[in-house]
This record gives sequence, C-alpha cells and structure tokens, in this order.
Amino acid sequence: MDYQAVLEEVAAHVRPQIGRGRVAQYIPALASVDEDRFGIALADVDGRVTGVGDWERPFSMQSISKAFSLALVLAEDGEKLWRRVGREPSGNPFNSLVQLEYEHGIPRNPFINAGALVVTDRLHTLTGDASTTMLDFLRAESGNPDLAFDQEVAVSETAHGDRNAALAHFMAGYGNLDNPVPTVLEHYFWQCSIEMSCRDLALAGGFLARHGLRADGSRLLSRSEAKRVNAVMLTCGTYDAAGDFAYRVGLPGKSGVGGGIVAVVPGRCTLCVWSPGLDARGNSVAGVAALDHFTTLTDWSVF
Ligand code: DON
Repeated sequence: MDYQAVLEEVAAHVRPQIGRGRVAQYIPALASVDEDRFGIALADVDGRVTGVGDWERPFSMQSISKAFSLALVLAEDGEKLWRRVGREPSGNPFNSLVQLEYEHGIPRNPFINAGALVVTDRLHTLTGDASTTMLDFLRAESGNPDLAFDQEVAVSETAHGDRNAALAHFMAGYGNLDNPVPTVLEHYFWQCSIEMSCRDLALAGGFLARHGLRADGSRLLSRSEAKRVNAVMLTCGTYDAAGDFAYRVGLPGKSGVGGGIVAVVPGRCTLCVWSPGLDARGNSVAGVAALDHFTTLTDWSVF
C-alpha cells in the first residue's frame, strides 16, 4: 500500500473540518495553540514512518500518555492493577467525579483521569520516578532523544488542577493511592505535558501494533497483554465517545486534549493524528474524521 498517497487523500478529505471544534481552554497554556494545524503519521510494524501536514510538529500529548503508563505498569506488575481500577467504559466525561463515590474510590477504567492517577501512582511505586520512566521510554521508542516535558503546560496544569486534586484526594480517602497526593499529581501532570509530534507518537506506539514488541525487538508486553491494552483503548480510550469512535473508526485509539489521537491497527501499523479543535467530549474533530476516512479507504478497522 502507498501510505503516503493514502494519508494525502485522508488529509484532503478532512480539510473542511480543520479548525472546527474548540481548542482546550481549561489549561491556559493549551488555549494558545493554533487551531488550524493538522498532521497525520503512520508507522508500520517495521518502524518505517511517513506523514503529511504538521506531522513533525510537537504538541502536548496530554491523555495519550495514559496508554503508555498503563502499558508500563502492566509490563512491570501484570494483572494486579485491576484490583485498584476497573476496565469498563465510564460513559462520563474524562474528569468526572460522580462515579467514584458510589464505586468506593475504584475508578471505572485507566483512561479517565481518576484511573490514570491510580496507574501513575503504581508506576511511581514500581519505578521510583513515574514521569521520567515514561519520558525515557518514549525517547527510546520514538528514537527522538530531544523529547521533553513542557514546563509551561505542566505548571499551568498544576495551577488549574483543582479537579484532578479532588479526584486524587477522594481516592486517597478510600486508600487507593500509595504515594502522597501531591507526588501523584505532579507526575501525572508532567507526563501529560510531554511534547511529541505525530511522527514521534506513531513510532512510540509501535509496540501496540507489534503485539508487545518494542522498537529494538525486545518484549515489553506479552501478546495477550498487548491485546488487552488495545481492548481498553477501544472501549475507553475516547471517554464517553468510545462507542461512537468504535462505530466510525473501528480501531483502538487514545485521545488527548492537546488534539492528538493514537490509533492502532494490530499487526500492521500505528497512526497518530493531530488537530487541536476538540468536540464537546474532548476528542479532535478533524482527527476522528481523518481516522474514520483512513479505515474507510484501507478497510483496516479491527472489525
Ligand atoms: O487531566 C487533565 O486534565 C489533562 N492533563 C489530560 C486531559 C486529557 O487529555 C483528557 N482528554 N481528552
């Protein structure tokens, strides 16, 4: 398949949608991003990568980091995590507090903020430094040693992080955090702030298409664990729009409020699309449309 030609056709198809939606406003450092950006990259399982548009321009990965932290914890710790976090879609916004109380401090899944805080807490306990562990992993997998935290975003998010702090304190009240709340929040915010391009993210998510194998051929996850991360991405990776994303795109995907989405075609390739305009559920409008058109053109959905 001529990936370049496919991505160009995808980009042409979604051009009218670029600039639609709203750039995330709740973190001031994200609100200043140019809403007319669009990039898409595809990395095949052999690590060949191609892209169009702004595919080499770094953006804030935000919640896409949650897919990597989940994989890193499962790699270190296996199935124990599931005692502390569920794996059902929440049907609620990513930052919702409401289910936590009647579900006794156990978040529905690792991709809503509450669940990601538990995963970060576990990663921190296992490694001694959750955010640096993730940064090192992303540098190795993307082959980009220049990847870095965006201090402005992390500081901005910390200053406007009352809701995440409420989630963390609430779970600590149920005994579902091992580390102090400020430590967990700090590592969660720094992970979210990492700046990456579509190129970097398509390469870094390659292990999910390679059934758990890292870029250097070593194994991060067993085949079964890789399948499970992909399954949770499919059912929960786009929050309360996961049903619609499965309906339209039909791939495991993880979005972030920076406007990026990573999607996986197991056995074939990992894609990353970026366009900052978000829909009401926090997913990139042009990004979802691009992946929708990609699977229509290639017939590469998992269904
Ligand atoms: O927790 C937050 O609010 C952000 N750092 C991440 C949110 C996010 O990307 C959710 N996504 N769609």
